[in-house]
Amino acid sequence: MRKKIIPALDVQSLEELTFLLDELQGKAITVKVGMELYYTFGNNLFYNIKSRGFKTFLDLKLHDIPNTVNKAIKTLAKNGADIMNVHAAGGIEMMKAALEGMREENENGLLIGVTQLTSTSQNVMNQELLIPGKVSDVVLHYAENVRKAGLDGIVCSAHEVREIKERFGQEFKCITPGIRPKGSANHDQKRVMTPFEAVQAGSDYLVIGRAITRNDEPGQAFDSILKELNNE
Ligand code: C5P
Repeated sequence: MRKKIIPALDVQSLEELTFLLDELQGKAITVKVGMELYYTFGNNLFYNIKSRGFKTFLDLKLHDIPNTVNKAIKTLAKNGADIMNVHAAGGIEMMKAALEGMREENENGLLIGVTQLTSTSQNVMNQELLIPGKVSDVVLHYAENVRKAGLDGIVCSAHEVREIKERFGQEFKCITPGIRPKGSANHDQKRVMTPFEAVQAGSDYLVIGRAITRNDEPGQAFDSILKELNNE
């Protein structure tokens, strides 16, 4: 169960980051490094996280021409990224090129597709981006493309996991943000699930940010989520 919990290191200062790494070392197996952190501190910090023994989910959501994405993913995998993601909107050829780059450097790494961002409303998708149909149908269509490209799975809401697994198989990984332990604030997340419910629904990895990182004792917050998952 421990490896299912991926704390999102969404902080901006080195001080906050060091505190979190100290708290989570020996507890979390994988941590998520997002654009803000990676673009602020670059590879040095990334190496620091790796040297503490954490695996990393490098959440950079790449989207460019196939050749560029292939080279970028290869470089990042070489640097030690264990899980990475690309936008499914880049197309199947781009996703295949990304996968080749990943596999060349890290055979066991996971490459994940991002379907429609949760910040894209129905109206924006139809009127501004000129993509017809319902957001949920486009999400499923993109997920199908992710599977066709041979990627390992998608990022989705825990509410969608059952349907995704039914359609694309149990091996198709679902990484789910929007997780809130019982009694914790929802913040800006609209459709949340508890860690236990998300795992029951079939979620493979739970990305958990503020419920861990904004706690005064992030290590204890991690432990209590783990207890909840183990039904202790
Ligand atoms: O603090 P919280 O648990 O809401 O953080 C969730 C993490 O997952 C953040 O890093 C956020 O950027 C990411 N995420 C998300 N919703 C998505 C995709 C990623 O919340 N659809």
